[in-house]
Amino acid sequence: MTKETSRVQPAGPGAQSHLYIERRRRRLMATLAASFCVFALYLAWHASHAWDVSHEDESPIAAALAQDASGNTSGSATPDLVKRGEYLARAGDCVACHTADKSRPFAGGLPIATPFGTFYTPNITPDPDTGIGNWSDADFLQALHEGIGKGGERLYPTFPYAEYTKVTDRDVLAIRAYLNTLTPIHYTPPRNGVKFPFNLRWLMVFWNIFNFTEGRFVPDPKQSAEWNRGAYLVEGLAHCEECHTPRNFTQGLKTSERFAGATQAGWHAFNITPHRNSGIGNWSDDDVASYLSTGVVHGRANAAGPMAEVVADSTQYLTSEDLRSIAVYLRSVPPVNGGDTRPREAWGEPANDVAALRGMKISGVNGAQLFIANCATCHNWTGQGIGASAPGAYPSLIHNSAVGASPANNLAMVILHGVERKTKDADVLMPSFATQLSDDQVAAITNYVTKQFGNPQSMVSVEQVVKLRATQQ
Ligand code: HEC
Ligand code: HEC
Ligand code: HEC
Repeated sequence: MTKETSRVQPAGPGAQSHLYIERRRRRLMATLAASFCVFALYLAWHASHAWDVSHEDESPIAAALAQDASGNTSGSATPDLVKRGEYLARAGDCVACHTADKSRPFAGGLPIATPFGTFYTPNITPDPDTGIGNWSDADFLQALHEGIGKGGERLYPTFPYAEYTKVTDRDVLAIRAYLNTLTPIHYTPPRNGVKFPFNLRWLMVFWNIFNFTEGRFVPDPKQSAEWNRGAYLVEGLAHCEECHTPRNFTQGLKTSERFAGATQAGWHAFNITPHRNSGIGNWSDDDVASYLSTGVVHGRANAAGPMAEVVADSTQYLTSEDLRSIAVYLRSVPPVNGGDTRPREAWGEPANDVAALRGMKISGVNGAQLFIANCATCHNWTGQGIGASAPGAYPSLIHNSAVGASPANNLAMVILHGVERKTKDADVLMPSFATQLSDDQVAAITNYVTKQFGNPQSMVSVEQVVKLRATQQ
């Protein structure tokens, strides 16, 4: 027995042993806390020093440079290399996240809301002070392949390095060569508003253990060259899974449900597996290519929200060979059944009872009346649209995936935020109704449209519309 316990003079033997157990427990806790701290310090040290390792061996980079079709190893980029880099930067859609203000392309500052807080994208123009002007090629490769910044800090996976790790050194360096030709913009984006403990960058070590496998794309020799090209693009640069694959509780991608669909900031990125009812199993390769290059497949789908941006900033620039490769690859992924009884785009009938609406009292929240007043000028009271299949036509709401989908999120989002998509094909604009219509009116129109022109089971409540309206776009 120690001095301390005898000084305390416990009331009886029971209390004494209780005290002893309590002291043991405290000592154990202290030891555990100390070992955790040591472990954490080790991880933090490891995280900040890991970059040394890849700096030791610069030869693969030199090799990749030498490999370039131009044969240029002097460090000054040839126009061909820059052109290829521009194409690849588009395939990777770098501009979408790294541009907040269109007059400052690639200068960053775009807020990205996540469950852990708000991230602001960095400036990746060649400005030496605020951008990546003084990054070496090795730094750049390390960021895209390992998610590690120039100072050795862990980058957050909002930056899709989990996909970019698959991109060859040669392609990453072509992107770098292109970025080097941009006008340097002196601009420092706002600091991340990320909550404790996620503000500790080294914690990403744990995220990486569960969700990240470093390594370049390995072609499958059993598959065609076309399939391999599609897989390389979809799994790598084009990072389609960032939106289309559901996430686990650590916000990593659920590998068991790849491409099965997921909701982010109010928008549902649909199931794009080849399942016949839940996915895009009925789409032809041409449909997929047309959707990605124009944002439209008549009688099936139109691209709105984040997908409209993907089409406008990225996929519209891909060659028809690359688009076809993407379609070929998507057709081969395991189909995931979401329990749907019909394909999204297979619902709906034209309205034929406009007469029934005449003489009805205007109630303010009658979905049919609100539809006639707000939507029919463009989509026709029958819902069949105007302009048929001409580019930029006002589309039919019958056989439209956003109207036939369950849940009806995207339809409500289209009403709240409109559609904006600039492509070489057409300048598409549907106005936003956020300021004209109240939450109960948006819900009423949504539920009228799904019932009349789409999946009658698909409904939104006024509470859901309130939430959708509040999501940061
Ligand atoms: C989905 C959004 C998104 C896309 C697409 C994206 N980035 Fe980023 N990127 C980010 C975010 C967010 C960060 C900052 C992460 C952090 O704070 O740790 C980042 C960081 C970076 C960094 C590190 C910069 C620094 O100062 O530490 C580089 C380099 C970079 N991105 C290059 C690219 C390139 C090249 C592409 C296209 C091939 C690209 N990014 C596409 C979101 C994106
Ligand atoms: C930034 C998020 C995001 C990324 C990245 C993204 N998508 Fe999408 N995608 C969406 C959303 C949201 C929709 C639904 C759009 C709508 O309702 O109009 C969608 C819709 C689609 C559709 C139409 C499905 C239907 O039934 O209407 C296809 C096909 C598709 N995406 C393919 C792709 C491919 C291929 C890629 C990669 C090249 C990709 N997407 C990348 C968010 C994304
Ligand atoms: C000024 C004309 C105009 C008005 C008014 C209008 N729309 Fe649209 N709508 C469009 C255009 C243009 C598109 C996009 C066409 C494209 O993608 O090529 C569109 C697209 C849509 C889509 C397809 C979105 C997708 O992701 O597939 C739906 C659904 C829709 N509108 C519903 C409505 C509803 C409901 C209203 C009334 C609240 C309405 N629209 C009012 C012009 C209009």
